[in-house]
Amino acid sequence: MATINVDVKNVLGTVTAEQIQSLNPEAAAGLDKLHNGTGLGSDFLGWVNLPSEITEAHLADIEATAKSLTDNCDYIVAVGIGGSYLGAKAVIEALADQFSQLRPQDDPRRCRVLFAGQNIGEDYLYELQDFLADKRFGIIVISKSGTTTEPAIAFRLLKEQLEKQVGKAEAAKRIVAITDAKKGALRQLATEEGYKTFIIPDNVGGRFSVLTPVGLLPIAAAGYDIRALVDGARRMEARTVEASDENPSLLYATTRNALYRAGRKIEIMVNYNPKLHFFGEWWKQLYGESEGKDHKGIFPASVDFSTDLHSMGQWIQDGERTIFETVLSVEEVAHRTIIPSDEANLDGLNYLAGKRVDQVNKMAELGTRIAHVDGGVPVIRVTIPALKEEYLGELIYFFEKACGISGYILDVNPFNQPGVEAYKRNMFALLEKPGYEAETAAIKSRI
Ligand code: PA5
Repeated sequence: MATINVDVKNVLGTVTAEQIQSLNPEAAAGLDKLHNGTGLGSDFLGWVNLPSEITEAHLADIEATAKSLTDNCDYIVAVGIGGSYLGAKAVIEALADQFSQLRPQDDPRRCRVLFAGQNIGEDYLYELQDFLADKRFGIIVISKSGTTTEPAIAFRLLKEQLEKQVGKAEAAKRIVAITDAKKGALRQLATEEGYKTFIIPDNVGGRFSVLTPVGLLPIAAAGYDIRALVDGARRMEARTVEASDENPSLLYATTRNALYRAGRKIEIMVNYNPKLHFFGEWWKQLYGESEGKDHKGIFPASVDFSTDLHSMGQWIQDGERTIFETVLSVEEVAHRTIIPSDEANLDGLNYLAGKRVDQVNKMAELGTRIAHVDGGVPVIRVTIPALKEEYLGELIYFFEKACGISGYILDVNPFNQPGVEAYKRNMFALLEKPGYEAETAAIKSRI
């Protein structure tokens, strides 16, 4: 059966198989902590058994809500940031026609999903609101804490706009809130306004929440098969239970930690398919927020090849040897495009005539891999059979499980993010938020 696969043979010039295997006991202990809740951050392990615990009724509720949105809206704005944004964005981008936003919106089973609240760009919000001025739109507002500034500003603006465009009662039918069961301003607002709501479980952190309604509702509203996504995750959940050589998450976790201990401090997630750009963004948050603490952790970066071979290729080939690559390679692309023959052959490309574009891309990948390995860059290769919901579900869970194991090998709490608060405190102080008077005085004395 087609499935994702991890190949680490191209790291063996930098670390040995024995060095990787020597981390197996630590990885097995990490896996055990994830399954038994005995490690740091054990309050946040709801994602571990989440795929197998999702009920039919829950999926049906998400699908029915998505249908009600698609029946009444052509556009949905998913409002959220970080873990309340990147998972849905990554999956939708991986599955969508890349020019769908430019095509007429004529499929009643799908909404175009736009995103807001993931930045504080005034022009972004102005242009989004301007675009939506004559559109049938709805809002999925997502915030676990219910108090995050970026989505709160975007939601305030979009809610006001929607209420002006369709009236308060109709707006309330087109807004869905995904938030904590009890706490936070968004929960209170949703209760007062009578919005349909979904709960983000207490024990699932933002960056592990893509398989909760946080990711599933926008993905379903975009017209994709959330059951297949969840089925794929369930398969990977089953495949990553045992601490064995067959566990791909364990192999990935041990390999990247062996490389880290050998001085490879930067991991570059590489794709050869532009549809995976945002998968790299999701992965960076997952690993960066989980591991970057106590002055430790691999720095997660990402590039899109072959595009970035023309910008970052030089550094990767020849720069400081502190990097390794994890290549996400898609085995079968969705469409066929054959390079035509040309009588004049002025561009000298006739040697490629009759070949698929993807054959060229695969040779770019192979040629780059050989060049980078020759240049001293270890390469982990993760193959995914195709960009389909089931394999993306596998991939999501694969990386989540490996992240938990990896964090425990590193001996950090993979499930908190105390460092994210520092900028917020300064921003609130500078904006003179009530309650921050002392911080305001202190920060103003420094500028
Ligand atoms: O992973 C995390 O915890 C963060 O990235 C959060 O998801 C992000 O800060 C958004 O938080 P919230 O969903 O509470 O608005």
